[in-house]
Amino acid sequence: MGEQHHGLLTEIDHIGIAVRDLDAAIGFYAGLFGAELVQRERIESDGVDEALIRVADSYIQLVCPFREDSPAAKFIAKRGEGVHHVGYRVESCAEVLKLAQEMGYETVDKVPRPGSRDTTVAFIHPKAAFGTLIELVEE
Ligand code: CO
Repeated sequence: MGEQHHGLLTEIDHIGIAVRDLDAAIGFYAGLFGAELVQRERIESDGVDEALIRVADSYIQLVCPFREDSPAAKFIAKRGEGVHHVGYRVESCAEVLKLAQEMGYETVDKVPRPGSRDTTVAFIHPKAAFGTLIELVEE
């Protein structure tokens, strides 16, 4: 192992779950668990509608494509509904993204970009992360 980096992940911010029917999925979490819907938002650039459901200090982020060329639509077509990515909270998205790039890990984003809830986000490719798409989330 090379240089050690301590405690860069400060919280699991959210689990992203790809679904085909956003209202049905919100209804499931509300109906079974009484979970609170915090926010609903269309992310034009990603081609998805998102719903955030609170779980203590973290969220479930339901992701539902509204057009066929959305990466989330391709994900569902290929792998079905289910866990799509894990969002980890970090102090500095830019710093951790740069670190990943310097260490030679493939990233989806070259530079951080705006996420939902006025966050700054960047994605690390699942190829680099043992099959899980990782989202870095800076509040
Ligand atoms: Co996310």
